This record gives sequence, structure tokens and C-alpha cells, in this order.
Amino acid sequence: MSLLDSARQVRENAYAPYSKFKVGAAVRGASGTIYSGVNVENVAYPEGTCAEAGAIAAMVAAGETEITEVAVIADSPTPVPPCGGCRQKLAEFARHDTPVTLATTEGERLDTTVGDLLPGRFDMSHMENT
Ligand code: THU
Repeated sequence: MSLLDSARQVRENAYAPYSKFKVGAAVRGASGTIYSGVNVENVAYPEGTCAEAGAIAAMVAAGETEITEVAVIADSPTPVPPCGGCRQKLAEFARHDTPVTLATTEGERLDTTVGDLLPGRFDMSHMENT
């Protein structure tokens, strides 16, 4: 199954009773294993978590810390863009050129990279004076 198919399939399990906006995400670890996640909302709205965060947590829990590919899908008019926080979370475990596929459930795709999603990101080099 492709990474995007994994994201599409897991999206069905998203818990989004408040926004009604179901998101599925999948990341591939360096081992080749696919880890998937969904958004999990909460009645205390800020406590909700994004699909990307769920996929990353599953990968790290399995003992992997390197993302080689990302896919995110939602029923959005244009391919769903990860939120700012998720861009930083993805960047923690990916390279600038790590491919990212953003998709709609209708079949539209946008292929980009982690670096293009978050230019000028905060990283370890910014803490060199500490
Ligand atoms: N959401 C994600 O899970 N990932 C994204 O990239 C964008 C937004 C979720 C958070 C919330 O549950 C819902 O979509 C509406 O913002």
C-alpha cells in the first residue's frame, strides 16, 4: 500500500466531532515501515491533536526517529496544508528535501518538501551561543 493510501485509510478513524474535518497522515520511517495517525479532537478544543502529530508519535514509540516520506489527506477544497506546529514537528525528524504529498479526498495532489513547507526553521544551530 502506498503512503497516501495508508493516510487515506486511517483518516476514516479520525475523531473530529467538533470540526467535522477528518485528517489522515502517514510517515515512512527509515526502516521503510509506515506509521499513520489521525486528528483527535477534544471538547476542550485546544487539547485536540493533529493527524501528523499522531503519526510522528507512533513512529517514535516504535523506536524510529527519521522520516523519509510524508502524506497528509483531508476532504479539503485544495490539498490540505499542515499547520505551522506540524511543520515544525515534521522538520524535527526529516531533511529539507524529504518529500511530502498533500492531498484531497477527491484526488488532487500537491507534491512538496519539508524544507519548502518551513523555510527558515528554528533548529539546533540557533542555540549555539547557549
Ligand atoms: N488538522 C490536522 O490534523 N492536520 C492538519 O494538517 C491541519 C488541521 C486538524 C486539527 C483539527 O482537528 C481539524 O483539523 C481542524 O483544524
